[in-house]
Amino acid sequence: MRHLHRDKLLSLFEEGQHAIIYMKGAELKYRYDTDYEFPFRQESNFWYLSGVNEPDFHLIFDLTSHEYHLFAPRRDANYAVWHGRVKSMEQYRGEYDPDHLHWDSALPKVLNKLDPDRIYCLNEEQAEYIEEFDRNTPIDLDSLEEALTHCRVFKTDWELDQMREAARINNIAHTEVLRTLAPGKHEYELKAIFDYHQVRHGLLQDAYNGIFASGPNSAILHYVENNRQIREGDLFLIDAGFEYEGYASDFTRTYPANGSFSKDQATIYQVVLDAQQQVIEDIEPEVGMEELHMTSAEIMMQGLVDAGILDGRVEDLMENDIFALFFPHGLGHFLGLDTHDVGGYPKGVDRIDRPGIKYLRARRTLQPGMVLTVEPGIYFIPALLKPALEDETKSKFLNSSRIEELLSFGGVRIEDNIIVTEEGYENLTEVPKEREEIENVMSK
Ligand code: GLY
Ligand code: MN
Ligand code: MN
Repeated sequence: MRHLHRDKLLSLFEEGQHAIIYMKGAELKYRYDTDYEFPFRQESNFWYLSGVNEPDFHLIFDLTSHEYHLFAPRRDANYAVWHGRVKSMEQYRGEYDPDHLHWDSALPKVLNKLDPDRIYCLNEEQAEYIEEFDRNTPIDLDSLEEALTHCRVFKTDWELDQMREAARINNIAHTEVLRTLAPGKHEYELKAIFDYHQVRHGLLQDAYNGIFASGPNSAILHYVENNRQIREGDLFLIDAGFEYEGYASDFTRTYPANGSFSKDQATIYQVVLDAQQQVIEDIEPEVGMEELHMTSAEIMMQGLVDAGILDGRVEDLMENDIFALFFPHGLGHFLGLDTHDVGGYPKGVDRIDRPGIKYLRARRTLQPGMVLTVEPGIYFIPALLKPALEDETKSKFLNSSRIEELLSFGGVRIEDNIIVTEEGYENLTEVPKEREEIENVMSK
């Protein structure tokens, strides 16, 4: 299937140029100066083009002939003793199917023979590596990354199937956590359940550091300690996913730890859920991420006014950036071989320097084949709210007694993974999110 990715990339380069693309695959990483090995994960662009998820490979695309050269590391007997991963040329050929397979020691010779007028590289580090063998050929560091990003933003049918499989298993693991959740357990026990259900399906690599956050920790956007004991009356927020064939899944759910939403929890949860469902319904080709982000913020502002937590008109709350106090991150991001996948900001499009939107990871018009997350949230973050209560302008919009009561409430985020289709969208996330559904599962 990777041959489709390679064809797609090469079609973006001008025909007939006497040039090559050179890429270096990832190496093993170790913990500081020890022999503790981190789990190997191929660099995403290299994986996208080659399907190789093992260390120390290189590749070259010859833009004249469109031939694909793959360079494999030559392992010795000592390597076999310690790692046991020595493969033959035939095995590599069978697995990766390049036009030409070489040992990595052949790199200078092949470069010499191809004798290109230009070499396209992803970055300075890779360029420096190739310059060890060829100091004369001009190197282009701009075009390759841009072309690869374009390819990766629009998923092929095969890629979408990998993402559906990552999501299918994530649905199972999330639902098992929901079934297990109870006060008295520690956050890490829920992480253990989650990881167990991923691993037993053969998914060994998390897509990002999972967040298993109870009580006030649920208002910490990237909380990863996961070691608090869950208490009666807490909210519990889980934001976690693993990779299938390198493709990420990224879901968030927020539950009442004791199985039933308190009045405040129900109110705030419903505000987030309404916003999430509304903007998912709005997804179709030509819709802008920024508009979806602002719409979700407006819905949540209206919800907090109706709940008596904020005062004022939604236009004024938006104008004065009050939404940024409660929703300080972006509505979502592209998803793919990386959790925060490439392509959110095409060339010439910059971040908006305004609270509440500057962290939005994608400013783009949606098109079929894109995959994104939709993850609005409302958080009570003392570090943002305490100064706002002291601020002359902002405090006018805040119901201070309600906000003081809610300072240790935590936060609610609900995150689904969405494929943009010709007709609208396909939602890959099927973990309970209606309040009644959550309470039903937890009562069993
Ligand atoms: N926890 C990473 C994300 O949801 O974007
Ligand atoms: Mn997430
Ligand atoms: Mn996300």
